[in-house]
Amino acid sequence: MKARSCLAIVLAAGEGTRMRSARPKVLHAIAGRSLLGHVLDAVGKTNVTATAVVIGPGQNEVAAAVKHIVPEAAVFVQQERRGTAHAVLAAKSAIEQRPDDILVLYGDTPLIRPATLSHLRAPLANDADIAVLGFQAADPTGYGRLIMKGTDLIAIREEVDASASERAITLCNGGIMALAGKTAVAILERIDNGNRKGEYYLTDAVEIARSMRLRAVAVEVEEDEVRGINTKAQLAEAEAVAQQRLRHSALEAGVTLVAPDTVYLSADTKFGRDVVVEPYVVFGEKVTVEDGAVIRSFSHLAGAHIGKGASVGPFARLRPGTQLGEGSRIGNFVEVKEAVIEAGAKANHLSYIGDAFVGANANVGAGTITCNYDGSDKHRTEIGKDAFIGSNSALVAPVKIGDGAYVGSGSVITQDVPADALALARGRQTVKEGWASRLRGLKSLGKKKAHSRD
Ligand code: UD1
Ligand code: CA
Repeated sequence: MKARSCLAIVLAAGEGTRMRSARPKVLHAIAGRSLLGHVLDAVGKTNVTATAVVIGPGQNEVAAAVKHIVPEAAVFVQQERRGTAHAVLAAKSAIEQRPDDILVLYGDTPLIRPATLSHLRAPLANDADIAVLGFQAADPTGYGRLIMKGTDLIAIREEVDASASERAITLCNGGIMALAGKTAVAILERIDNGNRKGEYYLTDAVEIARSMRLRAVAVEVEEDEVRGINTKAQLAEAEAVAQQRLRHSALEAGVTLVAPDTVYLSADTKFGRDVVVEPYVVFGEKVTVEDGAVIRSFSHLAGAHIGKGASVGPFARLRPGTQLGEGSRIGNFVEVKEAVIEAGAKANHLSYIGDAFVGANANVGAGTITCNYDGSDKHRTEIGKDAFIGSNSALVAPVKIGDGAYVGSGSVITQDVPADALALARGRQTVKEGWASRLRGLKSLGKKKAHSRD
């Protein structure tokens, strides 16, 4: 059987005033990915054939985000916020392409799973023209109520328009809906705004479909999946749910999370086999950890690739552009940025390695700093393989340390060091015999004089 085509319409025209933020609501993030990004990701994983996003006027940032995430998506502007059905019709030209199925989602409901979207579409392949995602609400306040008759959904009643007995219903509208493409325009265009709020309610589609002798059904999911986000508190709750899911799938994939609840992951964090993550580690966006690597406590990683068997932390900071080779070691209080650390190389203590290349098996001693920034530009440091950088050295970039070279500790290196050479660049040590005891003698004399004056 030929796969059914599907248009996904994501409604994102809301202003999100309750977030109290200059940023558009759907661009707030959980697990390192925008709310809209989560929705578009779920949509992408259900093999839709076209995606449309409805934004509000002037929401250029949202449009740009859509184009970045799904370049082929169509962006429609809903000029006035006149209700969810009005918003869907902003994408009318896409609907008129007559996809088999249409999915309507909200940009602020990021926890929806791809499999649920497939379940929701399934009734359309049988005899239903509308399928609505419902959930048993712990607190139904504010939600539309699903009015059922057997397995048929006969109406959705918005809370403001509901009677007392309808309000007692706890099966609520999660907001996500699937509509058959062949009847959608006819249904949507019959929706009017004769209700308390004077809005065009998408939820009215159910009663209209029935009046057209079409069938509507409800598909039930857990409340978590249809959690909408309006406030920062709800954003934090959704973050907690997303983290639980990510930890769970990491554990399922064989990652050892010693204390899962203390590890923060991003939606795109990737792990190989036999990775160990100690307690209290934060994975920002774009981190890949290969087989057998160990990420020790209190480390913060973002934009980093960790090679096989590498060791990171405790207390390491890996910033974007970090690439750690197989078996390399980045120890405590070491910060790495835009740097390739080749296989077997080590920087075990208290260093900054930025805009750098560290060759295989090189040893970067404690307190080594690549001085990569001159106040206006960034410069590169290259450390050859098997090189040894003595502790507390400053490598003033641009500079190259040749393969196998030694840098004496405490050096300030401003010129390239040839392979296998020793470079020492520090003040000579001078020794003054007896100097300290003479100083102490002078001090105690001074104190006695002060006493005698009392
Ligand atoms: C809606 C449903 C309600 C359901 C609830 C689930 C309607 C009429 N009601 O109510 O049954 O229980 O969601 O959370 O559909 N939007 C636009 N343009 C508009 C209006 C809304 O883009 O003109 C977008 C919003 O940005 C939001 C979504 O549609 O992402 C839902 O709108 P909202 O006003 O939050 O609907 P609710 O009143 O919560
Ligand atoms: Ca809402």
